[in-house]
Formats: sequence, structure tokens, C-alpha cells
Amino acid sequence: MEASICVNDISVSYGRKQIIDGLSCRAVAGDLTALVGPNGCGKSTLLHAIARVLPIERGQVLLNNIDIHNSPTRQVARKLALLPQGPVAPEGLTVHELVSQGRFPHQSLIRQWSVEDAAAIDKALKMTFLTEFSNRQVSTLSGGQRQRCWIAMVLAQETPALLLDEPTTFLDLKVQVELMGLLQRIARTENRTVLVVLHDLNVAAAFADRMIMMRDGRLVADGPVNSVFTAANLKTVFDLEASIVQDPISGRPVCVPNTNGFSTAAE
Ligand SMILES: Nc1ncnc2c1ncn2[C@@H]1O[C@H](COP(=O)(O)OP(=O)(O)OP(=O)(O)O)[C@@H](O)[C@H]1O
Ligand SMILES: [Mg+2]
Repeated sequence: MEASICVNDISVSYGRKQIIDGLSCRAVAGDLTALVGPNGCGKSTLLHAIARVLPIERGQVLLNNIDIHNSPTRQVARKLALLPQGPVAPEGLTVHELVSQGRFPHQSLIRQWSVEDAAAIDKALKMTFLTEFSNRQVSTLSGGQRQRCWIAMVLAQETPALLLDEPTTFLDLKVQVELMGLLQRIARTENRTVLVVLHDLNVAAAFADRMIMMRDGRLVADGPVNSVFTAANLKTVFDLEASIVQDPISGRPVCVPNTNGFSTAAE
């Protein structure tokens, strides 16, 4: 299931407003890559451009050296799945029906539903702990359960590349940790490319192999977490004064914001 994403010098605009300006980055097969940056910096726009939901004005997006913006839609959908930020479920769908939609790119006039489709759906439901909710209406689930349905739909698509825009929103910390562990396993054991937008920097640093940092539509850093997740980059990207310490158990970098400047305690 190998596929690496290579973004080469792309620019993206909404109308006349340019949002992404000459950005290059990559996500490698076998690695979990976190995409981080402040609100409004263009993370969702970048994911949409990679998945060719949005056109690019210049540059290229390559998936395994194939130019995505010049490939047929169905072919791209079999290779790359996108979970957008805050998706809205169509009314009246059950969990099983929603997750089944992930299999649509695999259907064709000559190839109808198969045992492989059923197996992929069951596997995705199991991985997201949703098997018992299979026949429930999506609209009756809690925010966290619903978020897991969307993740299951994307997993059922069984693509070599996965793009997830803030998949941990609405999830409690334990479920976030389980989901990040699942994404890390999928990337490593199935050699898939997993690119995830995250706001929790410490969750990102704890699970990701690589990190992409952006600000104002431009790349600031792209590389292994230890070389990107630095106090200097956090200052540049988020204007955040912080120290980086090491988790004594995992050895992973942890960001500790400097709160002195915000203290209002009377001396
Ligand atoms: N459809 C649109 N039309 C015009 N401007 C848009 C549109 N979508 C997004 N923008 C603008 O593009 C910029 C980047 O938005 P984007 O959604 O990519 O940011 P983001 O990094 O994902 O932010 P967040 O962390 O809040 O999700 C913002 O200034 C936003 O207002
Ligand atoms: Mg966004």
C-alpha cells in the first residue's frame, strides 16, 4: 500500500485572495505526519488542494510520482481518502450505511458489492469500536461517536494515502490516544501515508513521525518531529514562548508553554 505525497511549490487562492503561496512539503509512506499551524493559516486549504477538492494555480501534487490534478477522479479516490474538518452526515443514515460510502470508489458497473467490501466495512467498524452501533442512526450518536463514524468511513476506503483534518475534535483524551495509536499503526504496519491536521501539539509530537509546520500559507518546517518541534519553530509559527522538555517515559518532545507573562497573581 505504498504511496508518498509530494507537494511541489503549489499556490491556492479563493477568488483573488491567495491563501497558499509557493508551498512544498511531503508525507512519506510508513510514517504518520502531523500538519500544524495557527487557525486560518491554510491547513484545510492545503489538504483540499492535495485531494484536488480545490484547484491549484501552480505547482504539482504527486502521489507516488503520479500528478493527482491530472488523474481521473475515481482513480484518485481509490488511492487517497480525505476526512474533511467538521463533516455533516446526511439525514437518516445508519452507521453502517455511512461507513459503506467509503466503498463507493471501489464500485463500478461491472464490479458490484463484494465480500471484500463487507469485510472492509466490518474491519473499519471494529477498529473504531463501532460494531455495536452499526444499526444506529448517525444523528442519534454523541459527537465523539459520530466523529469515529467518519474515521471508519475513511478507513473503509482502504486507500494507500489518508488525509484527516482534525480527526480528534470531540474525542476525549483516551479516545484521542487510541485513535492516534491506530493511525500510527496503520501508517507503520500497512506502509500507508497518513497526514493529519492536529491542534494539540503534544498529541502530535507524541505520535507523529514527521511534522509539517505552516504559517500564513507558507511552510516553516517539514521533517522528523525531533528536528521540527523546537522552541524556535513554535515561536515562529504560533508566536508562542515555550520550552521543549522530554517525556521521561516515551522520550518524545513535550511543549511546555511559558505562562509567566500571563500570570496575574498579586505579588
Ligand atoms: N471558501 C472560502 N472562501 C474564501 N476564503 C476562505 C474559504 N475557506 C477558507 N478561507 C480562508 O482561507 C484561510 C485559510 O483557511 P483554512 O480553513 O485553510 O485554515 P486552517 O488552517 O484550516 O484553520 P483552522 O485551524 O481554523 O481550521 C482563512 O483566512 C479562511 O478565512
Ligand atoms: Mg482547518
